[in-house]
Amino acid sequence: EDPSKLESRPPVVTIMGHVDHGKTTLLDTIRKTKVTEGEFGGITQHIGAYQVEVNGRKVTFLDTPGHEAFTAMRARGAKVTDVTIIVVAADDGVMPQTKEAVDHAKAAGVPIIVAVNKMDKEGANPERVMSEMSELGCMPEEWGGDTIFVPVSAKTGEGVEDLLENVLVVAEVADLRANPHKNAVGTVIEAKLDKGRGSVATLLIEAGTLHASDAIVVGTAFGRVRKMTDDMGKEIKVAGPSTPVEIIGLNSVPIAGDVFKAFDSEKKARQIAEARLNVRVEEERNASS
Ligand code: GTP
Ligand code: NA
Ligand code: MG
Repeated sequence: EDPSKLESRPPVVTIMGHVDHGKTTLLDTIRKTKVTEGEFGGITQHIGAYQVEVNGRKVTFLDTPGHEAFTAMRARGAKVTDVTIIVVAADDGVMPQTKEAVDHAKAAGVPIIVAVNKMDKEGANPERVMSEMSELGCMPEEWGGDTIFVPVSAKTGEGVEDLLENVLVVAEVADLRANPHKNAVGTVIEAKLDKGRGSVATLLIEAGTLHASDAIVVGTAFGRVRKMTDDMGKEIKVAGPSTPVEIIGLNSVPIAGDVFKAFDSEKKARQIAEARLNVRVEEERNASS
């Protein structure tokens, strides 16, 4: 790609960690809204994608469920991300999904920042978290390693500024760039069938710019974007690199983790989707014969 077309883009930060260690509460505090209160049973059932401004700079956050059933989602989150915040409750320490999150981040080669959460609690023991994380290959800087640990309380907001500043520093070092001057490409974060709206997909644009009337293809699904909304549900007409958007207009529900691509012509998008569908039909026929 022509390097002169690359422009700086916001970092994509995935929040991972064991169930109930405070990922969504932390993101709420960052957004200063109340996402957890609206969740069924306080358990994150999907990847939430949000963009916020930190010191005048945009940062995209992906929230992931800590429940053990969502391994694939955490793997997917790690792949589309630039920085991982691993949340560890200071009163609970490293747990199975903490370890799994470290594995995903390391496999994807993504820098890890550890948020030692729930520091407001009586039983908070940050030294224990540091030593348990060291055993997983995440040695704190203050112990001679290269992992940043930030003590926080998602509940009181203590330490959250410090955490965000560290995120910006790590992102700055990575010098993240993408070409916004082309048709959009990116990843499906989540997708569902909605009774009234049909196929609804949350997309993370990685490069290029998506326009509200573009034709897109993802896997064997295709269609023209009928409506595009931002993370606050506001209708938007254009979205650039690192932006999460929700779109309707696909003819079927795509698979989360699949790559999407935008085209000028709907005919082209349909041709690609149909060719893929034919390949799939052929494969299934061969497999059953
Ligand atoms: P899953 O999405 O289910 O994996 O959980 P999560 O990691 O998003 O945790 P969530 O934000 O839902 O918080 C779990 C519980 O811990 C809730 O009752 C929160 O109020 C509480 N909690 C989160 N952060 C803090 C904190 O800093 N201090 C205290 N005291 N409680 C916290
Ligand atoms: Na929870
Ligand atoms: Mg959650």
